[in-house]
Amino acid sequence: AATPAVVTVTGAAGQIGYALLFRIASGQLLGPDTPVRLRLLEIPPAVRAAEGTAMELDDCAFPLLAGIDVLDDARAAFDGVNVALLVGARPRTAGMERGDLLSANGGIFRPQGEAINAGAADDVRVLVVGNPANTNAFIAASHAPDVPADRFTAMTRLDHNRAVAQLAARTGSGVDEIRRLAIWGNHSATQYPDLTHATVRGQAATGLVDHEWVEQTFIPTVAKRGAAIIEARGASSAASAANAAIDHVHTWVHGTPEGDWTSAGVVSHGEYGVPEGLVASFPVTSSGGAWHVVPDLDVDDFSRARIDASVAELVEERESVRSLGLV
Ligand code: NAI
Repeated sequence: AATPAVVTVTGAAGQIGYALLFRIASGQLLGPDTPVRLRLLEIPPAVRAAEGTAMELDDCAFPLLAGIDVLDDARAAFDGVNVALLVGARPRTAGMERGDLLSANGGIFRPQGEAINAGAADDVRVLVVGNPANTNAFIAASHAPDVPADRFTAMTRLDHNRAVAQLAARTGSGVDEIRRLAIWGNHSATQYPDLTHATVRGQAATGLVDHEWVEQTFIPTVAKRGAAIIEARGASSAASAANAAIDHVHTWVHGTPEGDWTSAGVVSHGEYGVPEGLVASFPVTSSGGAWHVVPDLDVDDFSRARIDASVAELVEERESVRSLGLV
């Protein structure tokens, strides 16, 4: 039988964790040929709850689930890890300054980066879901100098999937008929959902929707969808976030379809004027187990301004974590 892949999920007792773990254990993350050994990392007060989830995972009798460990120690949780899903983070609470938020998350993502550096498998792939996802990924990567930087990614797949759903609804098409949408920049309200290269049933999306809808409805609906979910559901997106995490890793491992791309927060090499080293969302393809930023796209003036604004926010976040001594 195949050797199990070690998949570590942080924040395992949280609501995304609960929506994510069963799908991983059932084989949806890595496919039907790869058994998984789950490591659930939590903080001590939530370990008991994570153990309850582990009991339920046992009770599913998933054939691909080779074992579960519940841990509160990052070194143990990331020892030999192949796929690390960093979901647990410190949320912004009322009255919290941005510096406090970044410091609290630095206190989580620095030791986790160090633990990944110390013990991860050579092929480790890291997806940061916990917000502020891009900057948390930047912090973790900064503390893992022995791991290639391109193994650290931040999740913008949920934003991407939201954009696909909105464009499909507007054009009366199926989601599977939409290609080449892109999310640029930060996973935040400044993100730029870009349909200038998108096609719907092979036709240019820009010929099917007008610019006013793009600017007044499409972009804000996608960028503020998280807040709309909280308003409606009374809790933040969980199953859709877990679904996007599954999609992200599945695409990373298995590749993008010919002629299409997706979106992911990856370490910039300076593509499209995004400063090197920032973890920014780009249109990306995946092949050979690696992400590739889609090259040579025409970026119109409207897109340029939107990308620059979101990247400026990432630069500010990087300056803040530097001045706070977090990297
Ligand atoms: P939650 O509050 O239900 O769960 C978070 C869990 O993380 C808690 O169980 C907590 O004990 C745990 N945790 C905190 N510090 C930890 C540490 N140092 N090590 C291990 N576990 C730790 O939150 P939820 O809804 O599951 O969301 C998790 C994160 O995902 C949040 O930061 C949220 O903002 C973010 N998110 C990101 C999205 C994206 O598209 N990138 C979409 C939706 C949510």
